[in-house]
Amino acid sequence: MLKGKKILVGVTGSIAAYKTAFLVRLLKKAEAEVRVVMTPSASQFIGPVTLATLSKNPVEIDFVNSSQTDWTNHVELGLWADLFLVVPATAATIAKMANGLCDNLLLATYLSAKCPVWIAPAMDLDMYKHPSTINNLKTLAGFGNRIIEARDGELASGLEGKGRVEEPEVILEMLDNHFSQVESLAGVTAVVTAGPTYEKLDPVRFIGNHSSGKMGFAIANELADKGAKVQLIAGPNQQSIQHQNITVTNVQSAEEMFSAVQKHMDADIFVMAAAVADYTPVNVADQKMKKKEGELTIKLKRTQDILLSVGQNKKPHQTVVGFAMETENEVQNAQSKLQKKKADLIVLNSLRTEGAGFKVDTNQVTFVEQENVTDLPLMSKKEVAERIVNKIIDLRNDA
Ligand code: CTP
Repeated sequence: MLKGKKILVGVTGSIAAYKTAFLVRLLKKAEAEVRVVMTPSASQFIGPVTLATLSKNPVEIDFVNSSQTDWTNHVELGLWADLFLVVPATAATIAKMANGLCDNLLLATYLSAKCPVWIAPAMDLDMYKHPSTINNLKTLAGFGNRIIEARDGELASGLEGKGRVEEPEVILEMLDNHFSQVESLAGVTAVVTAGPTYEKLDPVRFIGNHSSGKMGFAIANELADKGAKVQLIAGPNQQSIQHQNITVTNVQSAEEMFSAVQKHMDADIFVMAAAVADYTPVNVADQKMKKKEGELTIKLKRTQDILLSVGQNKKPHQTVVGFAMETENEVQNAQSKLQKKKADLIVLNSLRTEGAGFKVDTNQVTFVEQENVTDLPLMSKKEVAERIVNKIIDLRNDA
């Protein structure tokens, strides 16, 4: 699967940099095209000539090349790559990537890369478990980057613990799996809704909910990684995503979300993960509402049900997935939602499981289909997204 794939390898200043030579060799053996970008300090750990010889391409380190005549185009490097793999990634580079710092060519390439970015950390155990490193890796994962967790074992410091970079053979296998999956949704289009909606009451107030958008963004990322072209239609959120296969449309209200989805009714896959308001104020005040004596009653009207409208207009090539959050008769309610909204799958969220639901990074869901009900264990939202997308692929293969 790696034949002809363009892999950009980013090397940073860690003792583990020597392993990158083995990885580059394995990639070349698998007939991938390889280019290498290094930080200046990486060259203290492994010679650029070694990596240039193994990759059969010049190694890029500086913004301006050694003859001082050419500018190295980081945008071109980022656009060239099918995947950018930073291995080994030091704590310093991880921190800079997480915070948008751009003081070397590798970082500039990272900031302009549109392809999937994978990061394989290598550092001493205490650095790896420091809250700042944990936060930085979380931030990068939130950007849609894939973190290849460090392994346990003997470290350069002589200490034992987690911090060893993943072995080249394992990374090669992960890359191979990735590219075989990428093909699985090539040529397919998808619409994903995510986040809450805000229903305006007046210029400063709205009715909203606690949805963070994390689940919808993770699903969009997973679909895009497998080659689908994704329209991500998102209510107000704090998430960020950059993927060459994802176009983001930001909306506020249920009505705006409905209109945005209507523009893509010919898509192949719909995943309606947004927590859309069921009601919106009948009247929106032009000016800030002033408080008065006594009670206030706000009249609300129903919003359009986006999932229902997609389900009712479903064509044979389309797969429709909805979400449900129930507090009682969970499976029964999800089953009737499946029928009513003509979905192929309802992903049922339970509010009862600790660590599941709004804002947190983990989720526990149940797949509710026409014939089957499958409970999944508590897992990260990224893993839930993977399971949902694999289920969608199965449903489409069975159709
Ligand atoms: N949904 C939607 N448009 C709406 C309301 C909901 O697309 N106006 C979608 C959600 O994105 C989710 C699914 O419908 O995929 C379930 O939403 P939920 O609010 O739980 O279900 P309701 O049909 O509103 O049922 P109830 O209020 O009875 O729970």
